[in-house]
Amino acid sequence: MTEVARAARPPLLDICNLSFGYSERLVLKGVNLTLAAGEMIAITGPSGSGKSTLLALAGLLRRPPPGCVWHWGQDMGQCSAALMAQRRSRLRFIFQRPYLLRSLTVIENVTTGALRSSEPNEALNARAHGILDTLGLREIAGRWPEQISGGQQQRVALARAVIGKPDLLFADEPTASLDYASAMVVVGEMRKLAEQESCGIIVTTHDPRISTHATRRLNLADGMFVDAVETA
Ligand SMILES: Nc1ncnc2c1ncn2[C@@H]1O[C@H](COP(=O)(O)OP(=O)(O)OP(=O)(O)O)[C@@H](O)[C@H]1O
Ligand SMILES: [Mg+2]
Repeated sequence: MTEVARAARPPLLDICNLSFGYSERLVLKGVNLTLAAGEMIAITGPSGSGKSTLLALAGLLRRPPPGCVWHWGQDMGQCSAALMAQRRSRLRFIFQRPYLLRSLTVIENVTTGALRSSEPNEALNARAHGILDTLGLREIAGRWPEQISGGQQQRVALARAVIGKPDLLFADEPTASLDYASAMVVVGEMRKLAEQESCGIIVTTHDPRISTHATRRLNLADGMFVDAVETA
């Protein structure tokens, strides 16, 4: 995308010719990617191809190089610390393991996702229950994380991300520790989230079957996209 086009109608996320390496070795080699609100992109690729590195830079866990990662038309590689913090507050990550807090119930875990919200507790709890309902988790709201299955835990992690109303969600192999059926449920719910909440989602996976839920599939090999496949 040109500078003029970017300024006129900035996409949610625009990655332009992103190269990145740890010390001497280049891991990402000129990656380009544009993500619109409501889209869910699945990235597959072998271990070490750079998927997590790409998510860390796009999701601002690491500051990206200048001119390469744009959020809503703003260059995140050379923005102020205040803007960086503001953008980070609008992003959420889900990882391979759910990382629920063991000392909190399911519903309490979910509300931590809106930690800095000024929303009254009652409204926040009602919203959390609503999200758990949508994800088919109504019955387990009062349980402890150790009392629910791995698939349920990962859906709780998704609920915790959703309650923060992110405009971007990055999911780094969120289904890697789930069986196929649970994995399909989690990714299906992510796709619904993208459509209903106009959230942009990038999910990485080793399983090409999981990526069928995405609006677009990309394959990363040795730091470059190869064989892009458009889906429904
Ligand atoms: N913090 C780091 N310091 C040095 N090298 C790193 C670091 N993180 C990742 N790497 C290297 O960068 C390359 C890409 O790693 P990355 O984790 O992005 O791959 P990946 O596609 O996510 O792999 P996997 O599917 O195993 O999760 C690998 O060769 C890895 O060893
Ligand atoms: Mg990885």
